[in-house]
Amino acid sequence: MSNSRLEKPVILTGDRTTGPLHLGHYAGSLQSRVALQATHRQFLLLADLQALTDNAHDPDKVRRNVLEVAFDYLAVGIDPALTTICVQSALPALAELTMLYMNFVTVARLERNPTIKTEIQLRGFERDVPVGFLCYPVSQAADITAFKATVVPVGEDQAPLIEQTNEIVRRVNRQIGHDLLPEAVAMIPKVGRLPGIDGKAKMSKSLGNAIPLSASADDIRAAVRQMYTDPNHLRAADPGCVEGNVVFTYLDAFCEDVGAVADLKARYRQGGLGDMVVKRQLEDVLQALLAPIRERRARYAADPGYVLEVLRQGTAKARARTEETLGEVRAGLGLFSLDAGQSAAAE
Ligand code: TRP
Repeated sequence: MSNSRLEKPVILTGDRTTGPLHLGHYAGSLQSRVALQATHRQFLLLADLQALTDNAHDPDKVRRNVLEVAFDYLAVGIDPALTTICVQSALPALAELTMLYMNFVTVARLERNPTIKTEIQLRGFERDVPVGFLCYPVSQAADITAFKATVVPVGEDQAPLIEQTNEIVRRVNRQIGHDLLPEAVAMIPKVGRLPGIDGKAKMSKSLGNAIPLSASADDIRAAVRQMYTDPNHLRAADPGCVEGNVVFTYLDAFCEDVGAVADLKARYRQGGLGDMVVKRQLEDVLQALLAPIRERRARYAADPGYVLEVLRQGTAKARARTEETLGEVRAGLGLFSLDAGQSAAAE
């Protein structure tokens, strides 16, 4: 039973399938998902329908990346025995719930949603926002509630979407007359967002400043060489600045030897430590982190049949769960039913 008190807290999170995942995803979400699968009932959604809301001109890309993202999940240690991985477009209950929830949100409220507002600006949609894009928070509310998830790990920029979800939950519950749908809390990563190798605030494939999880040893070396440091640190003998220095930000994020990093920082600040020395340290850390991920990823990519089977099984489980919720919402709202024993005369 999805409502059982004995069930571990339910997590739903996911990724738009617009490209393979990178080190920023690893630091921001993948690593914690691997830990959370031990303590939570975790569902991961390959959000291909949400990806279409701003990629309708390139559905091929969205489709191809469903498997790519699945390879990334498995490569970092998401275990299909503990985490259910499923494909959004193969879960029709999500679309149907979206349709029902649309009646519980106003266009004005969606337009005021801070996440949507910024994303519309970033994408340059201006007044030509696709309806699907404007409504993706409703679809995300459908995703979350269909699984009856109470914990939703997302980046800080997505927190308003969880607020929006809970508003819909309250309205639907009020209409239904009892608390059928649970509210969810956003789980925001404590570590800040990983900057790109160019020092820009966000690591992103489209900005060309990302290190993909599949990066070869040479790619990693080249990326570290190029990495933004302290532009005023011209000679090794000069004191350097650690804040905003991407090499140190990455060492903080990925080097387990905290003492060694503190020591490097002190020597860098003092002067006498060249960028190349620090970069070599970081390169060792990243090579050691990414080599096993890259190797596992290559093995999964060589066996897409196995990965497809993982997605089939995960999606079948998710289908049962989401359809159960949909049935409850339909009944709660009192939709017409063709099943026997129910008719308008009952009213
Ligand atoms: N919006 C998420 C992203 O941009 C993907 C996503 C879709 C999601 N549905 C979700 C996240 C439900 C959490 C819960 O990557």
